Amino acid sequence: KRLAVFVSGGGSNFRAIHGAALGGAVHGEVVALVTDKPGCGGAEYASSNGIPVVVFPKSKSAPEGVSVAELLDTLRGYSVDFVLLAGYLKLIPAELIREYPRSILNIHPSLLPAFGGKGYYGLKVHKAVIASGARYSGPTVHFVDEHYDTGKTLAQRVVPVFADDTTELLAARVLHEEHQVYVEAVAALCEDRIVWREDGVPLIKSRI
Ligand code: GRF
Repeated sequence: KRLAVFVSGGGSNFRAIHGAALGGAVHGEVVALVTDKPGCGGAEYASSNGIPVVVFPKSKSAPEGVSVAELLDTLRGYSVDFVLLAGYLKLIPAELIREYPRSILNIHPSLLPAFGGKGYYGLKVHKAVIASGARYSGPTVHFVDEHYDTGKTLAQRVVPVFADDTTELLAARVLHEEHQVYVEAVAALCEDRIVWREDGVPLIKSRI
């Protein structure tokens, strides 16, 4: 399957997926990297690995950015099957969601629906988790709809939150699980191992 990954930052999830695709654990190929931050680590990694970088959306700091229509055309040009958001901080336009039904995933660093939505990103999520007194946290992989962090959950992992945790320690513990659960979810997506329960909840079938 042909994958487009969207990033705004360092892109460690992108690198995990790219590595899994190269190694054969994911039956797919990252054919485009989309970013709103052309100078970010994820974009640099893509360039140095021969993956074309598409800048979206256009902004003051990224005048080379493309419009929604141009983005869709570009993704069509690369015959993209699935869109994977991996630390992409902009809201996804409705046109893209319509073009890729049940084909866009995101990873979020909390157990959704807790600690999700606009404003909950990066270290802020982990800070809020610690402040709440929650004893567990962990990443959620979910399908993407037109709002922040409200699409159907596909997979989650649980990690403990310790009494003396710092946001950085918790973030690192969650990020480690993110790489694994996102690769597992993308592997399932690429192998058509996702079944939709009658009530609209997606489930991963195991191999065999
Ligand atoms: C991750 O914590 C992810 O859950 C969130 O943004 C962060 C991206 O990290 N959506 P990276 O760029 O993949 O390292």
